Amino acid sequence: MTPEGLARAAEILARAERVVVSSGAGMSKESGIPTFRDAMEGLWANFDPQELATEQGFRRDPRRVWGWYAWRRQRIAEARPNAGHFAVAEMATVIPSLAVVTQNVDGLHTDAGSADVIEVHGSIRRVKCLDRGHLFSGDLPPYEDGEEQDPPACPVCGSPLRPDVVWFGEMLPVAAVERAWSLAGRCDAMLLIGTSGTVWPAAELPLVARRAGARIIEVNPVPSELTHAADVFLQGPAGQVVPTLLDEIRRRKLLGG
Ligand code: APR
Repeated sequence: MTPEGLARAAEILARAERVVVSSGAGMSKESGIPTFRDAMEGLWANFDPQELATEQGFRRDPRRVWGWYAWRRQRIAEARPNAGHFAVAEMATVIPSLAVVTQNVDGLHTDAGSADVIEVHGSIRRVKCLDRGHLFSGDLPPYEDGEEQDPPACPVCGSPLRPDVVWFGEMLPVAAVERAWSLAGRCDAMLLIGTSGTVWPAAELPLVARRAGARIIEVNPVPSELTHAADVFLQGPAGQVVPTLLDEIRRRKLLGG
């Protein structure tokens, strides 16, 4: 991150009335949550994401897929928001309107105190049944690290429970998408944090914002597929860059712009 880039990004955000923060897996990296690709490790290293994150894979081998998600859910339950999540939550106190659109299913933006979080890929904290989508709010069976496990049955209709996340080939939740796209189409600035820009349609969000005239600021340790669309690229990890950016926005606001 260069001082010039930081100053430019802070200036844009200090003047903005409506900001959308759009986050991906890199946002949670410093909380110890492996990205989807990194998570294909250890016991699970030999499996294909298509087997673990599709309805077809679940129907073929429910014990394996439920076990993999139970393992991820357990790791996420132990994780805490990092300084980047907290800085995003704080940013909402200095910008008139700020919403978070996240591809992450870990719930850490909410844990950090962000009030307006739109989860476009669902939440691993929720489960629903495979056949009819009944949401289940009871306790899940204990999980032994690394084991495969039978998914519990839906108490209403008996079909197996699955995580309430968006699998490959599935539609994104309609209400979340409508709100996210509408916010992107009328924001002044978008702060894009920790996404590779390879998963669609989420990757389209900054392009929607840009077409509508918004400034795009990107935070990532390495350039992504979306860097070409960014007005300012702040190179570095979210846990360092976002708190520094927040300090700079505050300083500018105190100085009157
Ligand atoms: N701070 C910010 N960004 C980081 C950090 C960090 N500390 N560490 C890594 N990154 C960046 C990487 O450089 C990469 O660009 O985070 C990005 C992570 O990319 P992906 O793993 O592709 O994550 P994402 O863009 O969120 O797309 C994955 O696919 O499986 C689905 O729903 C799942 O949301 C997930 C999506």
